[in-house]
Amino acid sequence: MLGTTELFKAAQSFIEQAFVEMNKSPEETRDRINEISSEIQQTGTYVHTFEELEHGAKMAWRNSNRCIGRLFWDKLRIMDARAAESPTEVASFLLQHIENATNGGRIMPTITVFSPDSLRIWNHQLIRYAGYETTDGIIGDPASIAFTQVCEKLGWIGKGTDYDVLPLVIQLNNQEPEWFNIPDHSVIEVNLEHPEIPSFSSLGLKWYAVPIISDMSLEIGGIIYQAAPFNGWYMGTEIGARNLADTFRYNKLPQIAQLMGLDTHSETTLWRDRALVELNVAVLHSYKKAGVSIVDHHTAAMQFRSFEERESKSGREVTGDWTWLIPPVSPATTHIFHKSYSDDLRSPSFQYMDKAY
Ligand code: ARG
Repeated sequence: MLGTTELFKAAQSFIEQAFVEMNKSPEETRDRINEISSEIQQTGTYVHTFEELEHGAKMAWRNSNRCIGRLFWDKLRIMDARAAESPTEVASFLLQHIENATNGGRIMPTITVFSPDSLRIWNHQLIRYAGYETTDGIIGDPASIAFTQVCEKLGWIGKGTDYDVLPLVIQLNNQEPEWFNIPDHSVIEVNLEHPEIPSFSSLGLKWYAVPIISDMSLEIGGIIYQAAPFNGWYMGTEIGARNLADTFRYNKLPQIAQLMGLDTHSETTLWRDRALVELNVAVLHSYKKAGVSIVDHHTAAMQFRSFEERESKSGREVTGDWTWLIPPVSPATTHIFHKSYSDDLRSPSFQYMDKAY
């Protein structure tokens, strides 16, 4: 937490920038800054209005240097959950987030903001598959092994499949966390098939519809919201070139290559690359067919270019982390690859936190 002097400074600079963008008058801006100043003097902190929270969250998305999807920053939907007081209430807001954001497949970029301190959501994403280390190797998502063990210690028991949806784990005021199952009907998943390779579906691959990051904090005007889960929709490569392809994740390229009849004995056949492309084709095809929002990396890069143009017209510099903005498949086919970005951190922002467990 910031000292009151730093907090006021951060609040003032946020209000000054946000109020201009929100078309407020200089008088309104001055009045609000004075109000915040006395609130901080009396209580040591201050409370954002809904409008400030809404615009602040949008700015944080706009400032997310690693995100290629920022063209839509202004379309973010904000759920104000600052009044939630018990783990049960928090869980019900989170289930609502999952359902509203999923929206039957027409995914809505959404953020749910809880009261700044006291609450931690232990999940990395609200929907994520468990990972188990067994004597015959890893089952499920290797990236979830540590968190899955935490859930099991708390009393959760998974089915033991490759795609068990983990429970929500909610901790209030450093008390023992509570866990809540996510009902099956709240989670849309997409079974992967390939438009030209009929046997592809025999691999039994699938992924969930909505990535909802829940372990980053949202900083607005010096206030740090530790629980503020947010989502967009997937870019296909996140699933097809990372989650299902990385050797330290689901590692599916060898099986796909085999099914395609590729020679995997020599790297020079480029079997990895060929399998990778077909996996990515399958992801995009299957999500489209299932009516679940998704974007391919070429379209996403073009949208990012529009974002850059729009920002420049608004007199703002686009900051970015090149290493994250380039897609992991065919990066040099996008304009992003051929330019550079300043990775400066702007406020408001989303930030990593230390693990809660
Ligand atoms: N890369 C993460 C995953 O594969 C999701 C990160 C957020 N992605 C997004 N499109 N909003 O699960």
